[in-house]
Amino acid sequence: MLKGKRIVLGVSGSIAAYKAADLASKLTQAGALVDVVMTEAATRFVTPLTFTSLTHRPVARDLFGADSELSVEHVALAQQADVVVVAPATANTLAKFAQGLADDMLTCTVLATAAPVIVAPAMDGHMFDNPATVHNLALLKERGFTVVDPGVGYLASGLTGVGRLADASEIIGAVKLVLGRDGDLAGRRIVVTAGGTQEPIDPVRVITNRSSGKMGFAIAEAARDRGADVTLITAPTPLDDPVGVQMVRVATAREMRDAVEAALPGASALVMAAAVADYEAASPGASKIKKKNRRLSIDLLPTPDILAEVKGDFIRVGFAAESDNLVPNARAKLDRKSLDLIVANDITADDAGFSSDNNRVVMLDRAGGEEALPLMSKYEVGNRILDRVAALLASRAG
Ligand code: PMT
Repeated sequence: MLKGKRIVLGVSGSIAAYKAADLASKLTQAGALVDVVMTEAATRFVTPLTFTSLTHRPVARDLFGADSELSVEHVALAQQADVVVVAPATANTLAKFAQGLADDMLTCTVLATAAPVIVAPAMDGHMFDNPATVHNLALLKERGFTVVDPGVGYLASGLTGVGRLADASEIIGAVKLVLGRDGDLAGRRIVVTAGGTQEPIDPVRVITNRSSGKMGFAIAEAARDRGADVTLITAPTPLDDPVGVQMVRVATAREMRDAVEAALPGASALVMAAAVADYEAASPGASKIKKKNRRLSIDLLPTPDILAEVKGDFIRVGFAAESDNLVPNARAKLDRKSLDLIVANDITADDAGFSSDNNRVVMLDRAGGEEALPLMSKYEVGNRILDRVAALLASRAG
């Protein structure tokens, strides 16, 4: 979604300016046209050449510099921008934004732009906690700026505290959230599930499966990037919370069922990418089952079938994880669970299915339609599913 987007990346004078180089590189690799604007102080930490080399575009820094075409048209960047991102944003720069000052290229750009502005503060913890900075950030939020909060950790001052520039992935997530605000799913609530549930056998052991959560997370991010209000209900996974997505972390199928039921009122669609365990231990041990030199049996009971159970007027999308007879098995599930769409994937493939960043799926719909998609990223699969969801919602509305 960043392809061809014009992003102004403002860099102000913090030691974290070096991390802006990584951000500029990642945004450029994602296809964005990144125009870097540096404050004078920022150029003390990183040279403009670093950014020019990474973005292949000139760096704007001097309002009156003879070397810059922008010296005569210093609001040009502000007008062309789809989004302005200031990372790192120092306490001084934030104070200038809050006051509406325009004494350098960056403050002029921010004051002149009608594009959304994202600021990612980075500074010493005491400066961040100072009432002046707290007040300035509150003022900027009130005016519609998006603030990507700094993290806690080791600071250049030698202290540990709040003030570390947020990770590039978090800042890019905020960019996508802001750019997608008016997408085709704006105003829609979408509930997505992800990951493999864990059913306890005893306090130590669980029944689970090989789902990494990547498929569900990718759908949630794709829906967010199209403007949806997304609730992601996930079984245990090491994946980071996507920016701008409401997270519910659960463990068992029953917990997932309860979370789905709680999230569904008012939702337009449910997309169940989670690999929900089909069985749970009938009576999980209260203490650890001891090893004995004889056969051990565990009595299993079926878990609730979430997709088949949930009621309401929303689009239902299920997945079918199959090792054989992909399409017939998936169609039988679509019918049995009264789904609008089922996304079938062969979980024996080496390059797709569980854990991979990619997937190869066949989408089957209620009208008998069947669409086989080639191998593509899970994010792209998510978008193809959401194209179908958007079309179904449009046909219901019409
Ligand atoms: O997480 P990744 O590593 O990225 O892997 C992705 C994936 C392979 C897990 C994903 O693409 C996938 O196929 N998810 C569905 C896995 C699954 O449980 O399939 P199933 O055929 O057993 O179930 C059919 C549908 O019913 C699924 O939508 C499932 O969420 C749902 N279900 C299943 C059991 C149950 N008790 N309740 C349910 O709602």
